[in-house]
Amino acid sequence: MSGAGRDRAALGARAQAMIEALAAISAEEGALTRLYLTPEHRRAADLVAGWMQDAGLSVRMDNAGTVRGGQPAGRPGRNANKTLLVGSHIDTVVDAGRYDGNLGVVAGILAVEEFHRRGISLPFGVDLLAFGDEEGVRFPVTLTSSSVVAGIFDERALDVTDAAGITLRDALVAFGCDPARLKDDAYPRAGVLGYLEVHIEQGPVLERENRPLASVSAIASQNRHVVRIRGQAGHAGTVPMALRQDALAAAAELIVAAEAIARRDKGNSLVATVGQIEVKPGAPNVIPAEARFSLDIRAANDAARVEAFQEFRLAARRVDTTRHVVVGIETVMEKPVAACAPSLQKAIGAAIGKVTGRAGQSLMSGAGHDGQAMAQLTDFGMIFVRCRAGISHNPREFVTVEDMGAAVEALVATIEELARE
Ligand code: GLV
Ligand code: MN
Ligand code: MN
Repeated sequence: MSGAGRDRAALGARAQAMIEALAAISAEEGALTRLYLTPEHRRAADLVAGWMQDAGLSVRMDNAGTVRGGQPAGRPGRNANKTLLVGSHIDTVVDAGRYDGNLGVVAGILAVEEFHRRGISLPFGVDLLAFGDEEGVRFPVTLTSSSVVAGIFDERALDVTDAAGITLRDALVAFGCDPARLKDDAYPRAGVLGYLEVHIEQGPVLERENRPLASVSAIASQNRHVVRIRGQAGHAGTVPMALRQDALAAAAELIVAAEAIARRDKGNSLVATVGQIEVKPGAPNVIPAEARFSLDIRAANDAARVEAFQEFRLAARRVDTTRHVVVGIETVMEKPVAACAPSLQKAIGAAIGKVTGRAGQSLMSGAGHDGQAMAQLTDFGMIFVRCRAGISHNPREFVTVEDMGAAVEALVATIEELARE
């Protein structure tokens, strides 16, 4: 094995060990579930903070629970007062894979260590960010931590509640954060050089094209809604079908309508998903009085997403009338397409070319990422890493050690490109 090959293998092996250590921190035995502002989030944050400290960074946790490890510029230059942000998230979905988000945090730490090992000082500061809420699973809002960093957090979100009725505000306080100081945790625009993130592709394209890495061109646009339907409870044996106001049957009609709207899309990028549903009172012999479900709509362009939502609203109005129920739709997230900065795509493309011998085309991300919030603060760029069969949000998510090593090297090479400018 060449010296470079050995370095990559060693970096990949370190990444794998760190991924395993994080994957052991879960709310469930035998499955990985780590939601925002939970005891598991705290333990993962402590582990990451320790790694950042060991890498020589000064570390703190901000008021949204983001672990931040920073170092100032190591040499003079026109960007010596600026900071390059590098990050990803350490929260997971329920019964998650171990690489989603976590790999990006680990890659940032290993990249900083690699610069120290090689004795290279950078002409700008670097802050590593380990976000706690990219998935938006515990609360109906998402990208809370990166929105705070980007200075776009909407304080009305502090009143949303989780399934146990705990507000985001109270959960932050219990985690040791001060919600009144969230504004102070935003970076000043002029002080930021850009944001970089390594993330698994979560799709099958890189594997099909036999490429370990790609630069991302943009993140698809995305809406999230909570749909609430109020009908009337009744006896399952006595109320004739024509007289029912069944909230769950109405929800079923709307779920199928959302699917049909997305399937009709000619551009083939529109997707609509209902991943959560709750029914009350929830007994086999009671007609459902209330149903609540999540609706997630995404598309490669904003117009397709907006049109799809308008169509869904019309379907909701129809169901409302025909089934004599009340349908309410709350929009909890609305993000336009977030384009990666051409200059960072170029730097990442050059870095990937250097590391793999072939840069290839940039990829669009159908998955959401913290870059959607960070784009409001600064230029952002992403490095996608091949994952087996494109499987993600699933415990079968898998990335090879070799590809993880290449990803860390590509991040190092991208930062070197930026340091040359
Ligand atoms: C996050 O993984 C999302 O795309 O929802
Ligand atoms: Mn992710
Ligand atoms: Mn995810």
